[in-house]
Amino acid sequence: MSLVGPKSQSMQKRAEKVLPLGVNSNFRYWGEGLTPYVDKAKGAYLWDVDGRRFIDYRMAFGPIILGHAYDEVDAKVIEEVKNGVLFAMTGELEVEVAEMIVEMCPAIDMIRLACSGTEATMHAIRVARAFTGREIILKFEGNYHGFHDHTLWSTYAPVEAYGNRRNPIPVPASSGIPQSMGENVITLAFNDFEGFERVMRSYGDQIAAVITEPCQGNCGAIEPQAGFLELIRNKTEEYGVVFILDEVKTGFRIANGGAQEYYRIKPDLATYAKALGNGYPIAAFGGKREIMSIIGHGVSQGGTYTNNKPGVAAAYATLKLLKTKPILESIQKRGQRLMDGLKEIFEDNNIPVAMSGYPTMFSFALGVEAVTCQRDWDNSDKDAYLKLVEMAIELGVMPDHDAREPWFLCYSHTDADVDETLNVYADIVKKVKS
Ligand SMILES: Cc1ncc(COP(=O)(O)O)c(C=O)c1O
Repeated sequence: MSLVGPKSQSMQKRAEKVLPLGVNSNFRYWGEGLTPYVDKAKGAYLWDVDGRRFIDYRMAFGPIILGHAYDEVDAKVIEEVKNGVLFAMTGELEVEVAEMIVEMCPAIDMIRLACSGTEATMHAIRVARAFTGREIILKFEGNYHGFHDHTLWSTYAPVEAYGNRRNPIPVPASSGIPQSMGENVITLAFNDFEGFERVMRSYGDQIAAVITEPCQGNCGAIEPQAGFLELIRNKTEEYGVVFILDEVKTGFRIANGGAQEYYRIKPDLATYAKALGNGYPIAAFGGKREIMSIIGHGVSQGGTYTNNKPGVAAAYATLKLLKTKPILESIQKRGQRLMDGLKEIFEDNNIPVAMSGYPTMFSFALGVEAVTCQRDWDNSDKDAYLKLVEMAIELGVMPDHDAREPWFLCYSHTDADVDETLNVYADIVKKVKS
C-alpha cells in the first residue's frame, strides 16, 4: 500500500479546481499528491476513495466518541428531522439537552447552544468582555480556540517567532488578522506558573478573560502540571477575570463532566463541541448563572443554526448514552492499553518518548523525556513521528499526520484494533530504528 491511492490523487486534482488546496479546512491538506479523500466510515474504521480500510485514530479531530455512523445516534437524528430541522423557535429537545449538560458538567448553571467550537469560544469571549467591561484576553501558546481573530495568536507559528519566554510576542496565525486585535491579546507559555503570576500582578485588573484548554489538545495533549489550573482559578478570582475553560476537545471525552470533573476545577465559563454530538454540528458555551444571565440584557448572542435539529438530536442521543452506560470507562481501558503498549515499544527500541494526555485522547513526543509547553514540544522529533505515521497508514492504521494532534479513541475501537495497532507500531518502529 502506498500512502495515498490513485483515486485520492485524482480527486485532489479535481477538488483543487474548485476548493482552495482541494479541501474545506486547511488542516485536511496533507500535501500535493499526499492528501487522502474519504469514502465512508463506520464504527472505528474509515475507508478512503481507493477502498482502503483504516483503523481511525483521528476521529474527525475528536468529535466521534461512540463510533462513526453510530446507529442509536443516527436513528434519533432521523426520527427528529422528519418533523423539521429549523424553526427560529425553541423546542423541548434542546431544553432537555441543556438540562443534561447542566447535570453532567459541574461548573455549568446555564448554557447556550452553538454550531461549532469556534462560535462557542467567540461567544464566551464576548460575554466575558461584557461582564468585566475589559478587553484583554490572556491565552497560552499552542492552544487553539477556533478560527476567529480574538485568539488565533501564537497557536501554530514557529515557536522562534514567539520571542523570549519571559516576554512573549503574540504572533497571528494567519494573514488577514488585524494587528490591532493583538493589542488585546497576551500570550504565555502553558504551565508557566511564574510568568502567569507576574502577568496577573501587572495586568490582572485589565484582563477580561483567561482562556485555556485544560490540556493542550492542539499541541501534543500536554497536561497541566499539578496546581496550574488551580493557580489560574485563584488568580482570576482575585483580579475579577473570567476564567474560560475551552473543553471543545476534552468535554464529554476525558470524563462525562470533562476536565472540570477530571481536575475538580470550576471555571466561570466553559465551551463545548466535538464529542457533544458524536460528529453532528453542535456546540455549547455556558457557566455561572451570574455571568450567563447578562445575555439578552445588552449582550448580543444568537445564530440561525444554533438549535439545528440534527445537532440537537445527536447531542440528546449521545449524552443519554454517556449518562446511562459506562462508555468512557470502556474507552479508557482500551486507550490505556494502547498508550502503555506504544510506550513499551519505544522504550524497547531505546527511543525516548514523552507520553501525554488521557486514554481517550493522548499523544506522544519522540526524542524527548517530558514536555510542559509548546516550546518544549517543538524540540521533539516531528520528522520521526511523521515517518512512522506514514508507514502506519500504509499498513491500515491512521493517526493524524500532524504530531500535535492527539490520537482519539471511541467506544467502537475493539481490543483487536488495539492489538493490530500495536503490532503495526512494533514492526515499523523496529524498521525505522534499523
Ligand atoms: C480546543 C478547541 N477549541 C475550539 C476549536 C474550534 O472548534 P471548531 O473546529 O468546531 O470550530 C477546536 C477545534 O479543534 C479546539 O480543539
